[in-house]
Amino acid sequence: MDILLERKSVRKYVKGDVKNKDLEYILRAAMSAPSAANMRPWQFIVVQNKETYKEIVKIHPYSKMILNAPLAILVIGDESKALGNYFAQDCAAVTQNILLAATAKKYGSVWCGIYGDKERQNKFAELFNLPKNITVFSLVIIGKSDDNSKQKDRFDAKKVKYEVWK
Ligand SMILES: Cc1cc2nc3c(=O)[nH]c(=O)nc-3n(C[C@H](O)[C@H](O)[C@H](O)COP(=O)(O)O)c2cc1C
Repeated sequence: MDILLERKSVRKYVKGDVKNKDLEYILRAAMSAPSAANMRPWQFIVVQNKETYKEIVKIHPYSKMILNAPLAILVIGDESKALGNYFAQDCAAVTQNILLAATAKKYGSVWCGIYGDKERQNKFAELFNLPKNITVFSLVIIGKSDDNSKQKDRFDAKKVKYEVWK
């Protein structure tokens, strides 16, 4: 399976848990992401509590699929531990690794954006009782996929230039 080309956002899940060993693989992959100066400013909260899910849906309008998912991972971190302004790039690499690892283990997953929307970030920080130095980056929802559609081939030669803009 070519996970890079087959990964897609999956928002429908069938019943079934994410196995503990798969969760550990996914988190190991997350923590293997590249990071500016190898600062690795990230941390994670694994969320499975259905009451928490209901609160998440109230503060994130595009996360309703969590209600049918067995698990989600909140990507958070300490911006002061990142090199310069690279916190978001480090956490984006982590988030992508989570999606790819989930795909490799045959789960469906979707990245729900939080960072960049201050109000949303603050609401998540409050919900998860985060200390002041911890910033919320993304929420990745993971479950057994109920979506058999194929990812489209999006290669577009027009997007690529060689050596200079022309
Ligand atoms: C920064 C970012 C934020 C996103 N936020 C959401 C979101 O809140 N809810 C959602 O359902 N999908 C979200 N997505 C997934 C995109 O909608 C999806 O990647 C895009 O439509 C392309 O589809 P694909 O992932 O299937 O290739 C987000 C993706 C990124 C990179």
